[in-house]
Amino acid sequence: MADLTTNFAGVRSPNPFWLASAPPTNSAYQINKAFEYGWGGAVWKTIGDPVLNVCNRYGAFEYGGKRLVAINNVELISDRPIEVNLKEIREVKRLWPDRAVIVSAMVSSNEQAWKTVVQQIEDTGADAIELNYGCPHGMSERGMGAAVGQVPEYCEMITGWVTSAASIPVIVKLTPNVTNIIPPAHAALNAGADGISLINTINSIAGVDLDSFEIRPNVGGKGSHGGYAGPAVRPIALHLLSQITSDPTYQARPVPISGMGGVETWRDAAEFMLLGATSIQVCTAVMHYGFRIVHELTTGLSNWLDEKGARQAEEVVGASVERISVFGDFDLSFRTVATIDESKCIQCNLCYVACDEGAHQCIDLTADGLRIDPDTYEGGTTLQPVVREDDCVGCDLCSLVCPVDGCITMVERPPKIPPVTWNELVRTRPEVTTDWDAMVAYREEVGIEIH
Ligand SMILES: Cc1cc2nc3c(=O)[nH]c(=O)nc-3n(C[C@H](O)[C@H](O)[C@H](O)COP(=O)(O)O)c2cc1C
Repeated sequence: MADLTTNFAGVRSPNPFWLASAPPTNSAYQINKAFEYGWGGAVWKTIGDPVLNVCNRYGAFEYGGKRLVAINNVELISDRPIEVNLKEIREVKRLWPDRAVIVSAMVSSNEQAWKTVVQQIEDTGADAIELNYGCPHGMSERGMGAAVGQVPEYCEMITGWVTSAASIPVIVKLTPNVTNIIPPAHAALNAGADGISLINTINSIAGVDLDSFEIRPNVGGKGSHGGYAGPAVRPIALHLLSQITSDPTYQARPVPISGMGGVETWRDAAEFMLLGATSIQVCTAVMHYGFRIVHELTTGLSNWLDEKGARQAEEVVGASVERISVFGDFDLSFRTVATIDESKCIQCNLCYVACDEGAHQCIDLTADGLRIDPDTYEGGTTLQPVVREDDCVGCDLCSLVCPVDGCITMVERPPKIPPVTWNELVRTRPEVTTDWDAMVAYREEVGIEIH
């Protein structure tokens, strides 16, 4: 069995799965229970300045009959007195020396307040501190959370206060509510952060009630933006993670990254690891299904690592980063076409409609092998979609809408033009990239058809 032991900036845990700072890590009762189930670590629900919470505080995004595709929340940091939290953190760490106990903190943006909370956390014996620069609601209006994470200068200044005072590792948790994640990531690195975690929640409104016109979640008739998390945010989280791990400045002096945002299964976790996450945090999936999901996470990851011939989880960390590219470096000659396996096709014709109306008109409907016009066809037989391979632009839409697994696949075909990238064209044939007449001439020259 592959070794799942994780070393994150010196913080050790028996597996890479940590509970994210959120309702499941609100108390010693919960974290003790989670550790009994096998969680490798936990980031305590953010502690800091006094707060009062509201009802209702969660809203759901449901889709296609699936509950909690995402959760939205207007919850604040821990509303339990800080002394209660600190006492429980101390107890948990004493009981579970082999687990990662990390404390998330957020206090007013003044140096003394941060230094005091750092000292309080260190006194509990906790393994590390996570700085919550992400909370997008309630705390940000008070100059904390996302109000810090969105301004790299604040991010660097406060991280510097903390790293200069802390003797345990400092992890900076970034907000996704920025147009570019790199400046706040650099700010964290410049200030000596030992690790980065991301993503915190994304600004959102869960929905609007069509009868009462109320915003969801509804707080006594009013609503506001809240933080979005759960499976729906995973592609955004993966992208932001990949932006950091493929950044040359980060690569020149990397720190471990704790990835989160929509992890529900071991497969989700493996994707984060391939893009460079050393540990994985989970919140919404635990709020939905409970602590027991850690069994599937650990056994699934371990089996997959065995299949891949990896003896240690860390061997796969970042293995896909070298594949992250920019559009300008894509090979424009790479060619795939859609192929339909007629033995699997149920003749629903979704692929035909998608291609005809939503894409590039490369699929015909046929009856008895002959192309027919579906608008005038009066025969009784079911119609078979057939791809006109020469016209297929390889966009993938038909295979994405096809309801039958493995019925439509994208198959690689020999290129029709010599290998070339957009960046090479910019260098060697700049006129082609700025003038449409030159572009049309270039297409004729190399044989790229216009559809
Ligand atoms: C209800 C709720 C409360 C949260 N509270 C905190 C918090 O106190 N501190 C923090 O850093 N992140 C908090 N988060 C964000 C999570 O730690 C995590 O970054 C986010 O939910 C993405 O992970 P997920 O998709 O697994 O839920 C909260 C998330 C939710 C849904």
